[in-house]
Amino acid sequence: MRFLLITQTPSPNTIALSEAALGAMRAHGQDKTHITIKSPTEVIADDLDNCDGLLLGTLENIGALSGLTKDMFDRCYNDWLGRKEGLPVAFYIRAGLDGTATKRTLTAYANALSWRLITPPIILHGSYDDAFIARVEELGGMIVAGVEAGIY
Ligand SMILES: Cc1cc2nc3c(=O)[nH]c(=O)nc-3n(C[C@H](O)[C@H](O)[C@H](O)COP(=O)(O)O)c2cc1C
Repeated sequence: MRFLLITQTPSPNTIALSEAALGAMRAHGQDKTHITIKSPTEVIADDLDNCDGLLLGTLENIGALSGLTKDMFDRCYNDWLGRKEGLPVAFYIRAGLDGTATKRTLTAYANALSWRLITPPIILHGSYDDAFIARVEELGGMIVAGVEAGIY
């Protein structure tokens, strides 16, 4: 199976979260599991073509989905419409203050694109907490293990 991990990482903390997600995805994969990691700026619509599961990590800025991730959806949305219906996806949101607007936005994208949210987007809220690492690892493990097992 092939997985895409998209992470927006403007800070050491968000880099640590991205690395934790990747580590957990690798740890839950099998010999033939292939995981590609990209920043939202690198993603093109075709990246989803051979993808069996997607994990996106982003953040909330000024009460909205952060711009670089929004740009990815702006560029790819029309090409993704109707192309990967049922794709298992999971999202985590780093949000110092709130995160609910971004959770709503990402849920709306998943619904509009007919992706399958394996669990509601998780918000890593407040001051940075080392416990965020375990939550991201759980999400990364869940999507890889679940897709590999045919659960999603
Ligand atoms: C310009 C700017 C605006 C932000 N606006 C919000 C916001 O509206 N809501 C929110 O939950 N967090 C907001 N944050 C916090 C970020 O979502 C995020 O938690 C932070 O940039 C990464 O934190 P860390 O690397 O210290 O863990 C903002 C951060 C910046 C730099």
